Amino acid sequence: MEAAGTALVTGAAATTSAQAAARSRTKTIRIVGISCSPRKGKTTAASLQVCLEAAEKVDSRIDVELIELAGMKIDGTLAAGLPLEPGQKDDFGQLVPKLSDTKVAGIIVGTPVYFGNMTSLCKAFLDRCIAFRKKNLALSNKVAGVLAVGGVRNGGQEITIQSVLAALLCQEMIIVGDGRPTAHIGATVWNNGKTPVTEDEFGMATAKNLGRRVAEVALKIAVT
Ligand SMILES: Cc1cc2nc3c(=O)[nH]c(=O)nc-3n(C[C@H](O)[C@H](O)[C@H](O)COP(=O)(O)O)c2cc1C
Repeated sequence: MEAAGTALVTGAAATTSAQAAARSRTKTIRIVGISCSPRKGKTTAASLQVCLEAAEKVDSRIDVELIELAGMKIDGTLAAGLPLEPGQKDDFGQLVPKLSDTKVAGIIVGTPVYFGNMTSLCKAFLDRCIAFRKKNLALSNKVAGVLAVGGVRNGGQEITIQSVLAALLCQEMIIVGDGRPTAHIGATVWNNGKTPVTEDEFGMATAKNLGRRVAEVALKIAVT
């Protein structure tokens, strides 16, 4: 009787682990790039696209999406709990379902360097993400990496990345840098103003390594 019972339990456990294995083979995850340049389709978006292509190549279960904040109205002051002014338009609400989607397992924030830091649009976006901390914890345990594009090779990309990472840590995100062989704190891209940013060999290497690293870690965490 006991033996039969044990067999039943073992059988049930086997089915469960087979189901779990099948689930993990088919489950898809999404990596989202968020471009925080006020200019649509420019160097930050192009660099993020390189990250996302590298992320997508990691595994067939990964899909990617680029979200550009350019043209969106995101008022950072509303993060403090102030009400919308009468007639005021604000687009942050459009981002909430996209980022709260349980498929999203990794996020790469990209920003131009503005005077050694992120753009005001990037800061407004990150401040408004306080909504996730208060309500659905949508960013918690998602993998995050950061990309910065500057007009100078060493124009402040790394300190800009650190500044963005600080906000992401406050969301309980699991932060990663660009993976090997570059393996530093994120993607550091140089827009020399003359040739397409995709010709910045070192910057593109960091972008690809960041995309790949975010995808690899997200896959490990989300598909278990
Ligand atoms: C207000 C402002 C400040 C900037 N400050 C810096 C800076 O401190 N360091 C730097 O390397 N580039 C700086 N830049 C250049 C931008 O980072 C660079 O042109 C970037 O590629 C713009 O990104 P986008 O093409 O996605 O808009 C600045 C640009 C602007 C408009």
